[in-house]
Amino acid sequence: MTNKILLAALVSAFGLSTAATAAELNVYSARHYQTDEQLYGNFTKQTGIKINRIEAKEDELLERIRNEGANSPADVFITVDASRLGKADDLGLFAPVKSAELEARIPAHLRAANWFSYSTRARVIIYNPEMVKAEQVQTYEQLADPALKGKVCSRSGSHPYNLSLGAAMIKHNGAEATEKWASSIVANFARAPKGGDTDQIRAVAAGECGVAIANSYYLARLMNSEKREDQEAVARVKAVWPNQASWGTHINVSGAGMLKNAPNKDAAVKFLEYLASDEAQAYFANGNNEWPVVPSVKVDNAALNKLGEFKADTLPIGELAATVAEAQRIFDRAGFR
Ligand SMILES: [Fe+2]
Repeated sequence: MTNKILLAALVSAFGLSTAATAAELNVYSARHYQTDEQLYGNFTKQTGIKINRIEAKEDELLERIRNEGANSPADVFITVDASRLGKADDLGLFAPVKSAELEARIPAHLRAANWFSYSTRARVIIYNPEMVKAEQVQTYEQLADPALKGKVCSRSGSHPYNLSLGAAMIKHNGAEATEKWASSIVANFARAPKGGDTDQIRAVAAGECGVAIANSYYLARLMNSEKREDQEAVARVKAVWPNQASWGTHINVSGAGMLKNAPNKDAAVKFLEYLASDEAQAYFANGNNEWPVVPSVKVDNAALNKLGEFKADTLPIGELAATVAEAQRIFDRAGFR
């Protein structure tokens, strides 16, 4: 039997399509930025592996992978926030990947058992210096101080960004203290939680509130924006790296993992390793004004350079993700919704 005939026999015996034998990778991504074309294009250039991308909102993708079950064509799931990566993991969607390269390049606290972080973002405090004093807003804990009554703005407490912060606070301060904190911050609200992080920054700039919490990339996006209204908003606010004298600023991540039912596992591992390469790290992080996880990769972002260095929380990201459900229960009881 010639190889060709053998291949044809195998194809018919196992119902394989010849397309499946070509090197391909199916990436389900909740991140879509201008730098993505280079990010994915360079992988194909280096490996010859074609990437098919499915892009949608985080929770939709998660739902889709669940529904596709064992027949899912998804090889890699990329999403933002440790809580969502943790949720995918809890649902048993990821398969563990053992890679010396990933272990060498990604710091241990940014690797979970079944997924990897590829960029970090910080949850920073934004304040209006005409309404509150800098020394009043140096920590997350201080935002619950009665002195800030009627001055705090926030997006929903049920949003993953706040739940992840709550999870970090539980790990550092304990559940009881975190519940007290959540009740007290609710008592300080200038308005009921609404909008996203950028809305909070704008509300602080407009003087509707004195202080709010926002992810660093929303501030960086405004700082890097050429729109006059964005520049004006930035000029009216100040940013704080919270908790520099204690456990450090809470950070969250964008990350990815290989799916349990991935049809192209070798390509998936190659891609996960590629995402930690110098070149991919720069694209991946810069696409959303985030920091690369690989310490040797330089940041090339005017806003991030201007914001400078800070002490980040080094809580293991897997532990953080595992504590989000508890944060949700605590915030619910405290009325931070
Ligand atoms: Fe976001």
